[in-house]
Amino acid sequence: MPHLDSELPIGVFDSGVGGLTVLRALEARLPNERFLYLGDTARLPYGTKSPRTVQRYALQAAECLVDRGVKALIVACNTASAVALPVLAARYAPLPVIGVVDPGAARACERTRSGCVAVIATESTIAGGAYQAALLERRGDLSIFGRPCSLFVALAEEGWTRGDLVESICREYLEPWLAPGVRIDTLVLGCTHFPLLADAIGRVVGERMVLVDSAATTAEAVYAMLEELALGRNEGEGGRALLATDDAVRFARVGSRFLGEPLSADCIQLVDL
Ligand code: DGL
Repeated sequence: MPHLDSELPIGVFDSGVGGLTVLRALEARLPNERFLYLGDTARLPYGTKSPRTVQRYALQAAECLVDRGVKALIVACNTASAVALPVLAARYAPLPVIGVVDPGAARACERTRSGCVAVIATESTIAGGAYQAALLERRGDLSIFGRPCSLFVALAEEGWTRGDLVESICREYLEPWLAPGVRIDTLVLGCTHFPLLADAIGRVVGERMVLVDSAATTAEAVYAMLEELALGRNEGEGGRALLATDDAVRFARVGSRFLGEPLSADCIQLVDL
């Protein structure tokens, strides 16, 4: 049984740099906490892989963090949250394990007025149906639409987040939901990378839809969980350590856009899973 102590760091993992959008929200909400982040860049992307493979990768990533000592595990990757959360929670109980799907679904349920919610995510997240299930569990009356938007991952990593090309790709994916008579008013950005494209997506959907980004909602859920379990670190300086499974230089270069601050490759420790 893992030993839980409020002084331990919070473990966060993702398939790569995308989860840094979640780390950023966590650091903003929990400034006294220390974080240990692992980006499994060697095996990215998770979003096109089968549930079995993602579960195996997620267990290995989690093991790496748990071995180092963490008081909670945050699955920042939507794909891993969608297909591996129950496996992780069962494997590491009573260690708290929180993913990004439930908090995102909860926010979408609060926001929708029309009862029509759309989710965009990776192929595996959409195929696994976890967002659909989490939404329906809260509100059985919802109409749910889903679409994989795989190109958004590459665009965000490339730093192509605005302009005509990006908007026309957004339009290509989202156009069917803009037709007259479609009453979708809430769009869940169900992938770590999509918040970087929020401006372009917002320009395409206009006032019709509210965008739901699960990072801030997840940070809120983690705050509530730490309070409930009396595991919060309420004073002292926060901090972070970054681990990656491949190429610290690329991690730093691409990751700095996701984290919203410069990162140096020297601060990233390479690990094998
Ligand atoms: N982190 C993944 C997610 O949120 C996107 C990148 C990938 O496919 O690994 O689903």
